[in-house]
Amino acid sequence: MQNDTTGFTLWFTGLSGAGKSTIAQIIGPEIERRGILVDHLDGDVVRTHLSKGLGFSREDRDANILRIGFVSKLLTRHGAAVIVAAISPYAETRELVREMVDDVGRFVEVYVATSLEECARRDVKGLYAKAFAGEIKEFTGVSDPYEAPDHAEIVVETEGRSPEDSARFVVDELERLGIIPPVLEEAVA
Ligand SMILES: Nc1ncnc2c1ncn2[C@@H]1O[C@H](COP(=O)(O)OP(=O)(O)OP(=O)(O)O)[C@@H](O)[C@H]1O
Ligand SMILES: [Mg+2]
Repeated sequence: MQNDTTGFTLWFTGLSGAGKSTIAQIIGPEIERRGILVDHLDGDVVRTHLSKGLGFSREDRDANILRIGFVSKLLTRHGAAVIVAAISPYAETRELVREMVDDVGRFVEVYVATSLEECARRDVKGLYAKAFAGEIKEFTGVSDPYEAPDHAEIVVETEGRSPEDSARFVVDELERLGIIPPVLEEAVA
């Protein structure tokens, strides 16, 4: 059967505290306004059900990402806009997911390029302090690898910008890449 849907997966990757979830939440309604169904797969939420029990070894992290990729593929195939916000530290694993999704729709990698220093300064969850104190093993960017993408479709900066500005930038890029249509100006009554 020919697939002529407009499904795509918007895959946010970046360090903890980079701004993935924050930007994803702002962007969701912006995409919905265009009449596209949106689903969110947030790393923290997924780890409470789909990936419950998985830890932070490379094997478990990969299993988590491949599960998210599997669900993304199903939803993308049905024309949804899937918004994933997961650290997804390994380039090779992100490539596997890209290949899975590319079979049925567009895969758009969004690198939330926030420096380790800035993420640690934000320390939204108080985890960096613990990681630097050696209390958390396998903490991405501190005691575990993060492989930044080198060919992400979109690279968004967050330092010195508001979350709204970063989200606006991503939406503009999605329009420029032809992945979402611009919102038509409302007719003046
Ligand atoms: N331009 C920006 N874009 C996004 N977030 C920003 C920006 N500037 C500051 N922030 C702040 O940075 C924090 C980002 O936290 P967020 O939970 O979104 O990170 P995350 O990447 O989802 O991390 P995790 O992987 O731990 O879930 C928020 O407190 C947000 O308000
Ligand atoms: Mg998050």
